[in-house]
Amino acid sequence: MAATKKKIKRYNLGLLGFGNVNRAFIKHYYSIHDTIRKKYGFVLDLSMVCDAKSFACRKSIPIPGLLEKKRKSSLVGGFCTDPLDRCAQTIREAKVDIMIDALPSSKAEVGPTFPLLIDALKRGISVICVNKAPLVFKGDTLFKMAKKYDAYIGLSGTTAGSLPTAGIVGNELAGSGVYAVRGIVNGTSNYVLDLIGFAKYTAIDAVREAVKLGIAEPDYRFDLNGLDTCFKMIILGLILTGKIVDLHHIPCAGILQLKEEDIRKVVDEGKLIRLIGNLNVENGTPNIRVGPETIDDHDPLFAVRGTGKGIMFKTQYMGDLTVIGGSSGRTHIAAAILKDVISFCKT
Ligand SMILES: NC(=O)c1ccc[n+]([C@@H]2O[C@H](COP(=O)([O-])OP(=O)(O)OC[C@H]3O[C@@H](n4cnc5c(N)ncnc54)[C@H](OP(=O)(O)O)[C@@H]3O)[C@@H](O)[C@H]2O)c1
Repeated sequence: MAATKKKIKRYNLGLLGFGNVNRAFIKHYYSIHDTIRKKYGFVLDLSMVCDAKSFACRKSIPIPGLLEKKRKSSLVGGFCTDPLDRCAQTIREAKVDIMIDALPSSKAEVGPTFPLLIDALKRGISVICVNKAPLVFKGDTLFKMAKKYDAYIGLSGTTAGSLPTAGIVGNELAGSGVYAVRGIVNGTSNYVLDLIGFAKYTAIDAVREAVKLGIAEPDYRFDLNGLDTCFKMIILGLILTGKIVDLHHIPCAGILQLKEEDIRKVVDEGKLIRLIGNLNVENGTPNIRVGPETIDDHDPLFAVRGTGKGIMFKTQYMGDLTVIGGSSGRTHIAAAILKDVISFCKT
C-alpha cells in the first residue's frame, strides 16, 4: 500500500517589533526551517513585521532580505509614523495566523500592544508574548479572551526563556496542586552576582559584561532591581490561578543595594547570595515576594551558576520538583519562542 504523504501546513506569521529577540527568533527559525517542516509538518510565512518607525506586509517576506534591510537601514519596510496602527489593520483583515509581541516591556502599564493582542485573540489569531507587560498588567483579560475565542497564548519567553517553567506549571504539573514556586529566574542578576563573588569583578564591570553578552534587558536595571523577577512570578501565578497580583503589593528588593564585599564574604563562607522569587498560592490566590537570599549547599538552587536559572515547585499530589539550567542568551530565547510556535501548530 502506498504511503500517504502528510500535507504541509502553512501559517502566516506577524512580528511586533524587530529588535534582538524577534531577529534572533526569525534567524533561528530560518536556519532550521527544513528540519521543522519535515519533523512538525509546518512552514511559517512571514507576512507582517513592524519596528518603531516602519512596517511591511506581504504574502511571504523573504527572511534573509529582511534581516539585511534592517541591518543596513534600521527599517523593516516603508517608513511610517504609525506602525502599530498598520499592524492593527492587518490583524483586522486576518492576514496573520500567529503573532509574536516582542516590543520593549513597559514597566508600569500594559503598553501599546495590548489592544492589538485583544483584537487578534477576538479573531482567533494566536499570540506569543515575549513582552511581559500585557500579561503582567492585564493577563487575566488576555487569558479569558483566548479561552472564549479558542486562541493560543504562548508565554514561554516571558517566564525565564529556556528554563522550562510555564510549560511545567501549565502541562506537566497540571492538576498536581502546585502551592509554592521558588526560583532564580533572572540570569543577568545571577551572572552579575557570580562575577562579583567569584571572579572579583566590580559591580559596574560585572553589569557591563552582562550587557556585552546580550543577556541583559534593554534597561538592565529592570533585571537588577528585582522587577523582572516580579514580572515572571506574576505570570507564573497567572498560569496557576488565572489571577494577576498587583505589582505594587509585592515586597520587592533587587541586588543593586548589595555591597561587593558582602557578596564576596558570603562566597568565602561557602554560601551564595541569590535573587529569589517566591510565589505561594493560598485559597486560589497568588502571593509573591522577591529579594536577595543567602543560601547554602543544602538548597537545591545552590547549583545555579553563571547565566543559569533554577526553579522549584511544591505540589500537593506529585511531591517536589526542581529544574536547573536554561541559560540566558539570544539563541535560548529564540528556541523558547519556537517551542511555543510548535505548540501552537500542534493544536
Ligand atoms: N533580550 C532577551 O534575551 C529577552 C529575553 C526574554 C524576554 N525579552 C523581552 O523581549 C522584548 C524585546 O526585547 P529585545 O531585546 O528584542 O528589545 P529591543 O532590541 O529593544 O527591540 C524592541 C523592538 O521593538 C520596536 N519598538 C519599540 N517601540 C515600538 C513601537 N511603539 N511600535 C513599534 N515597534 C516598536 C523596536 O523598534 P526599532 O528597531 O525601530 O528600535 C525594536 O524593533 C522585551 O519586552 C524584553 O523584555 C527579552
